[in-house]
Amino acid sequence: MVESYRRIVLASRPHGWVTEENFRIEEVPSPQLQEGEVRVRNHFLSLDPYMRGRMNDAKSYAQPQKLDDTMGGATVGEVVESKSDAFAVGDTVRGMLGWAEYGIAPAQALQKIDARTIPMSAYLGVVGMPGMTAWYGFHKVLEPKAGETLVVSAASGAVGSVVGQLGKIAGLSVVGIAGGPDKCRYVTEELGFDACIDYKTAENAKALAAMIAAVAPKGVDAHFENVGGDVLNAVMTQLNPFARVAICGLISDYNAQPGQVPRSAILNPGLFLVARFKMQGFIVSDHLNLWPQGLGEIARQVAEGRIKYRESIANGLAAAPAAFIGLLKGENFGKQVVRLV
Ligand SMILES: NC(=O)c1ccc[n+]([C@@H]2O[C@H](COP(=O)([O-])OP(=O)(O)OC[C@H]3O[C@@H](n4cnc5c(N)ncnc54)[C@H](OP(=O)(O)O)[C@@H]3O)[C@@H](O)[C@H]2O)c1
Repeated sequence: MVESYRRIVLASRPHGWVTEENFRIEEVPSPQLQEGEVRVRNHFLSLDPYMRGRMNDAKSYAQPQKLDDTMGGATVGEVVESKSDAFAVGDTVRGMLGWAEYGIAPAQALQKIDARTIPMSAYLGVVGMPGMTAWYGFHKVLEPKAGETLVVSAASGAVGSVVGQLGKIAGLSVVGIAGGPDKCRYVTEELGFDACIDYKTAENAKALAAMIAAVAPKGVDAHFENVGGDVLNAVMTQLNPFARVAICGLISDYNAQPGQVPRSAILNPGLFLVARFKMQGFIVSDHLNLWPQGLGEIARQVAEGRIKYRESIANGLAAAPAAFIGLLKGENFGKQVVRLV
């Protein structure tokens, strides 16, 4: 029996940038397990940009994170106690047990994972929600065709890195956009993208647009947007007729002050008309029926070495707030997780 465990709660809501003071780490007693429930020792916690939106008390596609409650989040770990026939002690599972060393969930809220061939942490990244996001946005929103040119922003990250590799597998020419020379080198040399633009070297959207035009001289047919701001406005000027744009995330706006004009405000709506392109937002959790197919395909491609991935690992629960703030500033390099064991 686990007597107590540590967790991190939302202590206050941020206004603009998140600070460590918005979180509180505390030790709490472990509740008794009820019939049908499973207790899990979390080995890894996933840190994801969507968590920033939930810290606001604002209307969105998901409920806001409650104050003084365990911060929500995906976890992988090992069953240490079970009152369900579906799970035995020692099983490895994925769940939404939050920023905590241990968690309890009803059996139906957990999924068994096979950590013998794919490491446990990858079920939070490349073969987890971010990988599925890449798969859905790429195949179902962008409807790509071999020979087309694809641009993807936050290209070295959890989602973007998979999008670009799916693009190469499908026979597209792929341009990544990422922050800094190291990330760009990784994207081209290790992930096999055709080109990568370091957006930090562009003074403004116009300069960025010229850099995109230089590496995509035939124009852009499909754009997978993770960032927004200047990136979105720059890519829009380079879209070919009937291009598709998938709005996956707009991270450059997540820490905006309430009432501030979004950086992703579209500067020239006339481009929609001239290029007749289609722009569609999507949320991966709306498409749970496709997860087995998408994640099955990605797991096979990871096992075959056709899809590579990289992780930034923070150590210990107490490191989670700083790692999360770092993620929002681009300090992560690949999928950000926290090792808890
Ligand atoms: N729609 C959905 O269902 C869904 C699901 C999962 C994720 N998402 C979205 O997908 C995007 C990527 O998520 P992820 O988990 O793969 O994160 P990630 O790319 O692993 O990490 C975030 C990256 O965003 C970039 N970034 C941060 N702030 C930026 C800024 N102000 N301007 C430009 N770039 C910035 C940084 O890369 P650089 O150093 O390269 O700038 C950072 O490393 C996020 O927008 C997220 O909200 C959406």
